[in-house]
Amino acid sequence: MLLYIHIPFCETKCHYCAFNSYVDKFDIAEHYFRAMEKQLEFELKRFNVQKNSISSVFIGGGTPSSVDAKLYKNIFRQIEPFLVEDAEITTEANPNSTTKQWIEKMMELGVNRISFGVQSFNNDKLLFLGRTHDAIKAQDVISFAHQVGIKNISLDLLYGLVLDTPSLLEKDLDIAFSLPINHLSAYALTIEKNTPFAKRKKIVNSTLELAQIVVDGVQKRGFYQYEISNFGTYKSRHNLGYWQYKNYIGIGSGAVGFLDNKRFYPSKNPNKYIENPLQIKTEQLTLQDQHIEKIFLGLRSEVGIKKEMLTQEEQQKVALLIDEKKLTCKDKTLFNNNYFLSDEIVLFITN
Ligand SMILES: C[S@@+](CC[C@H](N)C(=O)[O-])C[C@H]1O[C@@H](n2cnc3c(N)ncnc32)[C@H](O)[C@@H]1O
Ligand code: SF4
Repeated sequence: MLLYIHIPFCETKCHYCAFNSYVDKFDIAEHYFRAMEKQLEFELKRFNVQKNSISSVFIGGGTPSSVDAKLYKNIFRQIEPFLVEDAEITTEANPNSTTKQWIEKMMELGVNRISFGVQSFNNDKLLFLGRTHDAIKAQDVISFAHQVGIKNISLDLLYGLVLDTPSLLEKDLDIAFSLPINHLSAYALTIEKNTPFAKRKKIVNSTLELAQIVVDGVQKRGFYQYEISNFGTYKSRHNLGYWQYKNYIGIGSGAVGFLDNKRFYPSKNPNKYIENPLQIKTEQLTLQDQHIEKIFLGLRSEVGIKKEMLTQEEQQKVALLIDEKKLTCKDKTLFNNNYFLSDEIVLFITN
């Protein structure tokens, strides 16, 4: 079982970001955490969570490092009996707001993995993205996270902007790999509706050449690609769990939960969520929805898909893709040879 906890607060809003987060709601943070505790109590029962069964917790956002570590205390108290002994407990963190004390306190609570939203080590690019940290700050914060004892450190990079050149991206990777990380997520910029970037022109440079430079560059430096955007010598249990189509509890406004054939959506608005954290919409997934989702998640990651789950017609199309060396079949499981083609491949198989 996986557990996701959403923190919908950010100090500033980055120009590209459409995640459910607010810069003007820090005054309700304490009430928000009390509401999450209520929802968590409810979900632990609904998901029939047993002792020693939660293998991964992921605190995401928004910006988890923008709120005091002591606010997380009760939640950790609640989940403690349900965690497996070596649970992966990750928090996202923004280099700008993360302090040494915050990391130490989160470690005391049980956090053993941090994913830093770095985006780039180029100060012009950071400014363009609307980030508030600079390259030195990001390097310092990762170094002291390691010094205080966080062994599993990841960082996010963003690429595919007009500013990106092969040499800029190579430099970003050189600096990333000089740091004590064992995981890296490299995301191609998508222009999201209602973001400042959506109103501007000349933002994106989505050439395959840049994407290939990033993927080749990360692999050349020793990290293994286990999903279209994720690399490491350590593979995140939480990420893998999503792609393996495992159930997950989602706590907080804008979080999503998944149980067998249902998805759960608590209110996206933090104030409404506080009023009633148990007002949760349910989406019933059809067999066809689940079928396509499994293929989609499996083929954009090393998880792959079991051949036997496909219809006869789909298996015929797969045979063509194997001939064209786009897919590989090993132990009755199909694997994608180029994650960048996953959308086209899934469309081809399922239509
Ligand atoms: C919730 S945020 C990260 C944590 C923290 N809020 C921070 O930004 O430092 C997760 C990651 O999603 C990625 N991301 C956000 N918006 C994106 C977009 N429009 N296109 C591609 N990646 C995006 C960024 O790399 C970001 O670090
Ligand atoms: S990228 Fe992170 S810090 Fe920036 S607005 Fe999105 S969630 Fe907040």
